[in-house]
Amino acid sequence: MKIKFIDKQTKEIKSDLEIILLRKHKYLKVNNMFIKQNKLYVKIANFKHYTITETLTNTIQYINKVNKYKSVKISLYGTSDKKLQALIDGLLLGSYYFNKYQSETKKLKLKNIFISNENYKKSKFNINKIKSKINNYITINININLTRDMINSVAQDTTPIKISNWIQEEVENTDIKCIIKDDSYIKKELPAFYDISKGSINKPRLVHLKYNENKGYKKIVLIGKGVTFDTGGISLKPSNYMYDMRLDKAGAVTIFGIIKTINDLKLPIEVHAILGFSENMISNNAYKPGDVIKTRNNKTIEIMNTDAEGRILLADLFEYTQDKIKKIDYIFDYATLTGSVESAIGKYSAGLIGHNNKLKAQMIKVSKDVDEWYVDLPFNRYFFDNGYKSNIADFTNIPTSSIGGGTIMGGIFIDNFIKNKYKKKWLHIDIASVTFITSNWKYHQYGATGFGIKSSIRLIERLKS
Ligand code: BES
Ligand code: ZN
Ligand code: ZN
Repeated sequence: MKIKFIDKQTKEIKSDLEIILLRKHKYLKVNNMFIKQNKLYVKIANFKHYTITETLTNTIQYINKVNKYKSVKISLYGTSDKKLQALIDGLLLGSYYFNKYQSETKKLKLKNIFISNENYKKSKFNINKIKSKINNYITINININLTRDMINSVAQDTTPIKISNWIQEEVENTDIKCIIKDDSYIKKELPAFYDISKGSINKPRLVHLKYNENKGYKKIVLIGKGVTFDTGGISLKPSNYMYDMRLDKAGAVTIFGIIKTINDLKLPIEVHAILGFSENMISNNAYKPGDVIKTRNNKTIEIMNTDAEGRILLADLFEYTQDKIKKIDYIFDYATLTGSVESAIGKYSAGLIGHNNKLKAQMIKVSKDVDEWYVDLPFNRYFFDNGYKSNIADFTNIPTSSIGGGTIMGGIFIDNFIKNKYKKKWLHIDIASVTFITSNWKYHQYGATGFGIKSSIRLIERLKS
């Protein structure tokens, strides 16, 4: 399905159906929608941006259910940033449907959505500005849907090798360079990352994506946890906590979505995305509770729970990043790191952790404009005291006393692997709460939300100069 802005009045655009949103109409008292002479009239409660999104989500899902029309057109319902975004979100994110694994999928007839230059509010606007904004939102949403597809795809189809190859294919013919490092490289260079992957026959992969390298722009590094399936390892998860653990690659896949969007928008900034793909399996070769493993820079970790694997992966990715990439301006990591983030802040937000209060506040502010929500989870200095003290190694991998705050404690663990000069340049984003949902929410249906792409793009757009 394609969506396109056309610099014409609605009546000048040819299409099978026109969507018209109305607050009142005598027929709409009985039904929320009716079709008359190739016009689909839809009742809308008000023209607030979120109501536009919700109404269009329902409308486009209805059109796909009827599955009769090849093209639809719609005019603008307001020209503010929020209303334009609401329109594109409803149409593109609202119509997303993951049917890869259904044997009988109906082919959707709808191929084109046209947005006309007509504004129902009749106020004047600059057509070029509107056009570039609409194109910006379309680009972001196309990449969100691609990211959703990748996260939703099941573990057997997204083993570290398969997902790395998929990403490589997606960045072919873009300005993104893709370097894939295999397990023999990882064994030598990122030994802790290697150790958490030992239990699986699906060998780990490190993917390094580069955009605008050495062009003199600000330099951002995105780091992502890509555990393609998390059984918990020998510290096995109970079945009902395990079955959707294909979502545990969401951090890495989300940063792929971000760098891909940055490429498509041609933002003037240097971006590196470091994706660590691993499968946390149980087997006779798996790493064990009680093992002591070494990170890239020879820090030792006593494994007390093999289910706290993400932080070990990130530790090595952090050390690797700071060794290999010079003069970094910002480091953001995205991970489904802790189940406790959902108990702390609920389903619809991500946890935001870091030492730089200004940067956190900036992220919270810009994200609200795109209706993504972050909750600042501040470091409590007492949490640093001996939280990970091991009797035999430098650290344990889970807290040794039960002081709660699992998500903040996760942040405290990985903070050990950020050099002092980068402490204030770093944000840790725990998306375990919001990356995957099991009941409909906003323009999301069951499965991956693609959370984090919109807000990160807005933040990075502001950080670029
Ligand atoms: N991948 C999980 C976290 C997770 C849980 C993500 C639920 C999404 C939904 C992570 O590897 C994990 O198991 N973390 C443990 C850490 C604990 C052992 C300190 C957790 O959250 O229970
Ligand atoms: Zn785990
Ligand atoms: Zn995990």
